[in-house]
Amino acid sequence: MVIILDGKKCSAMRLELLKEELGDSGLCPRLATVIVGSDPASQMYVRMKHRACEQVGIGSVGIELPADSTTEKVLESVQRLNRDAGIDGILVQLPLPKQVDPERVIESVSPEKDVDGFHPENLGLLFSGKPRFSPCTPSGIMTLFKEYKIPLSGARAVVVGRSIDVGRPMAALLLNADATVTICHSKTKDLAEELKRADILISAIGKAHFIQPEMVKPGAVVIDVGINQLDGKLVGDVDFAKVAGIASAITPVPGGVGPMTIATLMENTCRAAKVKACTSA
Ligand SMILES: NC(=O)c1ccc[n+]([C@@H]2O[C@H](COP(=O)([O-])OP(=O)(O)OC[C@H]3O[C@@H](n4cnc5c(N)ncnc54)[C@H](OP(=O)(O)O)[C@@H]3O)[C@@H](O)[C@H]2O)c1
Repeated sequence: MVIILDGKKCSAMRLELLKEELGDSGLCPRLATVIVGSDPASQMYVRMKHRACEQVGIGSVGIELPADSTTEKVLESVQRLNRDAGIDGILVQLPLPKQVDPERVIESVSPEKDVDGFHPENLGLLFSGKPRFSPCTPSGIMTLFKEYKIPLSGARAVVVGRSIDVGRPMAALLLNADATVTICHSKTKDLAEELKRADILISAIGKAHFIQPEMVKPGAVVIDVGINQLDGKLVGDVDFAKVAGIASAITPVPGGVGPMTIATLMENTCRAAKVKACTSA
């Protein structure tokens, strides 16, 4: 019988726990979001993040910049937030409009406030096995593994996708947890062969129903990061209905990885506030 890895339930539990911890600690963390333009999906993600802040008791402020903003304008906003002692975490919603240089923006966020974990300093720490802030999506997946007691040590994990927000940090986190890790991408030769060896298969491609049951080892744990539209419905990279028949555990889309991403962002923001409180005490 396949186990459905219920990210929605797990995230709700984590948020409730965080709310209690915050209440006990007397800390009042504050998250700032920066959004450039009015892409509906980005606006929805930012709204969800602010709603989670409210739920947990984290203060939040939203900076909205026009779609035609220059890189310099975005950098100015981020630098203002870096200097603001009342802000613990900064999140710049991606993707940015094409005239804005995402690397310069990511690198401009103070590493101590980089709750998204995309700054090269934080990625470097993660890859050296001493993480400070790890990117929220892969970090949330690690929490799911922990909650469902999925053994990682010695497991053969295959990650499909090598982006800095999902694939690469996912591989680093799995490696830090003693898994044997393979990263696949669009140039991988015989992807199905690689996938069929996976005890843990993580797909972060962005292609609806790309992962079919013949690519999956029977009994594998399957994590679906993809968010895709198919016939007006939200679906993952994995053909859930078919793959659930052979996997031992699987995340649904929606309700799997997505909610864990938001819970982790809240946890990272609280951690940033705690560290600041400790260092300024
Ligand atoms: N649930 C969440 O919270 C959450 C968070 C972030 C992202 N997502 C979703 O996750 C998906 C991936 O996001 P991302 O930001 O990592 O995307 P991305 O930057 O576009 O990266 C996609 C990766 O998939 C690889 N790929 C594409 N086609 C492939 C193929 N046919 N075979 C093997 N590899 C292939 C690409 O390889 P190359 O590098 O060779 O091009 C690339 O590394 C998207 O659907 C996104 O919406 C969900």
